[in-house]
Amino acid sequence: MKTRFLILLAFLAQIAHAADIVPKPRSLVEGNGEFTLNRRATLVCDERLDNAASYLLGYLPLRLTKGTTGDVRLLLDSTLKSEEYQLRIDNSGIEVRGGDYGGVFNALQSLLQMLPAEVYTKRASLPITLTHTTISDAPRYSYRGFLLDVARTYMPVNEVKRAIDYMAFLKLNKLHFHLVDNPGWRIEIKSHPELAKVGGWRGGDSPIHPVYAHFDRKYGGYYTQEELREVVVYAAQRNIEVIPEIDMPGHSKGLGAVRPDILCNYTPDTTITNGIDTRNVWCVAKESNYRLIEDIIREVADIFPSKYIHIGGDEVNFNWWKQCPDCQRLCREKGITVGPQLEEHFLMRVNEILARYDRRPIVWNEAIRGGKMPKSTVVCGWYGVKGCLEAMNGGYPTIVMPSRYFYLDKRQGPNEIGHTSKTGITLKTICDFEYESAGFTPEQQKHIIGVEGALWGEIIASNIDPKGRFSDYLEYMIFPRLFGVSEAAWCHDRRSYDDMYATLKRSFYDKLEAMGATFRLTPPTIEVKEGKLTATTDDGSKIFYTDIRTNRRCAYTEPLDAALAPYVAFHSFTKTGRSGIAAAPEYWQYRQPKVAVTSSMPFTKHRPLEECAKYGDAAYTTRCARKGDWVEFRFEEPLDCHYIEVITGHYQVFRRLIYNGHVELSYDGKSFEQAGRLHNGKIELRPTRTIHALRIVADGITDAEEYTCIRPLKIK
Ligand code: ACM
Ligand code: ZN
Repeated sequence: MKTRFLILLAFLAQIAHAADIVPKPRSLVEGNGEFTLNRRATLVCDERLDNAASYLLGYLPLRLTKGTTGDVRLLLDSTLKSEEYQLRIDNSGIEVRGGDYGGVFNALQSLLQMLPAEVYTKRASLPITLTHTTISDAPRYSYRGFLLDVARTYMPVNEVKRAIDYMAFLKLNKLHFHLVDNPGWRIEIKSHPELAKVGGWRGGDSPIHPVYAHFDRKYGGYYTQEELREVVVYAAQRNIEVIPEIDMPGHSKGLGAVRPDILCNYTPDTTITNGIDTRNVWCVAKESNYRLIEDIIREVADIFPSKYIHIGGDEVNFNWWKQCPDCQRLCREKGITVGPQLEEHFLMRVNEILARYDRRPIVWNEAIRGGKMPKSTVVCGWYGVKGCLEAMNGGYPTIVMPSRYFYLDKRQGPNEIGHTSKTGITLKTICDFEYESAGFTPEQQKHIIGVEGALWGEIIASNIDPKGRFSDYLEYMIFPRLFGVSEAAWCHDRRSYDDMYATLKRSFYDKLEAMGATFRLTPPTIEVKEGKLTATTDDGSKIFYTDIRTNRRCAYTEPLDAALAPYVAFHSFTKTGRSGIAAAPEYWQYRQPKVAVTSSMPFTKHRPLEECAKYGDAAYTTRCARKGDWVEFRFEEPLDCHYIEVITGHYQVFRRLIYNGHVELSYDGKSFEQAGRLHNGKIELRPTRTIHALRIVADGITDAEEYTCIRPLKIK
């Protein structure tokens, strides 16, 4: 009896919920019958679809045969539009019709999602039974993008391919490959090998200063042209176009360190940045710069077949240009001003170069502020809904990616890893995003060509676990939010958040597990009631808790004493999913013993050192910390406590911190003893004796930014 029950369970497990396809198809109708792909099932395809067939064979052990009859048939159908597809499962087998290669590929993604999760291990066996189903589907937008920022954190090619696989799984079709930025140059340029060979690394003996973790060593990497061509081919098989970004004229600090000749014609004051030139803007007036850009574009265009090259245009610090006699002279000659018009002059010169290589520009929304960029320029609206409206109202083809909805580097909850975001950006934030309620009129919406989710790389470097897989953090940040991006880009009629969450739990957590992908779980719900501290989840996950006083982790099996509420934080695990931490409100409250704070460093009026004494915001120095600089916290009353967190720099991004430094404690108010070295600008202490004072001391060159951030202590 028991065996029969287990066989029945195994059989049921082979039948997935056909309707659980993300992004949600335009139309899906289930029939009554079933079709079984047996062990000898065959696959036939139009010869133009060989790549799609070989992709499918990577997941399913079918026998590829010639001819027109087979259990699985891949066909092109000229009555369908680009990327449109029909998928029919009936007694005759599985027939896929696509308007083009992309249409067929999209159908295969729907088909794979209808199969048991095991297919994503790429070791699935037949037979597999499917319910008769007819799907008719097409994307809402032709541009369904994902930005991968490998400039801030280099990722090996196999990790980039992994990201491409995830995009393909959710029918995203444009990889916006952010190859160049302040902290790194990742693309080999054969005519100027130093750009990548030197500019691909930071820290150690590199002219590019370390930032965003790994401060104690030289690290990074770059892609050879051969590797990039391999990425292009890999992506194309998955219906993904790779659009390279060479971010100009700002965001070029690393390039300026490697090639100071691109910078403006004056000697900057570097006294506040430990002697380091932190200028990050190409000089607009240097003709040699346009020759260098042409050399770069020529090679970029040769590697990437996309008709677009993203040329940046965001966040230019015009102050660098204001100090340049050559840029000023150019402005006088052209009758323009230093600012958006000068930026536009630069970008128009780059456009001329692009045109010589038959390429068109994509830019960030700031780039159109000069008012003359050609209307064929595609604009990424990132600076809020406002940035999108700027592009739409200017009549530009617009990619919708306002940061507060689509920046997947932002944290998913107020206490999670990721970039600062007041409330966090969750799957719900993205599912709830609506073009209309965001503020786009139907007329403005006509300019939308697509949607893009962006994973910026500042925080990736600091979250690579050398023992874990490189991609854990990337996956945690994109799953499940990329499901929301996918539906925003694909569907006219999207799932509600509740429907999406239920669908994920029912049909996708096991698929992500089969892929080996880490994903984010909704953190446990915490309650303090009737003397008990309880934690619950709605996804069957196991819950653990950690006591901040001991840093010890235990399995949560029953409600805890409410007295623990200020000290314990919970998190949960299931399959390859894990949650961020959750805790009672008391946990996030810290003691505020009276303290006097002094320092060897000058602080700004706007963010004085007093901020630390009153447990307010961060205090900002007026120059970068130097060797020997110190900050002293002297407690009015000797302090007995369980825990002190000392933080320099920003909370989420490891910048403007003291990376080479230590903390000392005084137990008598006079002498100080080493309590530990700062790691990424921070340290957690669990003192066992009464403390009179605490000092943060910088031990060497600690940073090369405009200021250092000192934060109030967190004491329990
Ligand atoms: C951007 O986030 N600077 C495009
Ligand atoms: Zn200049």
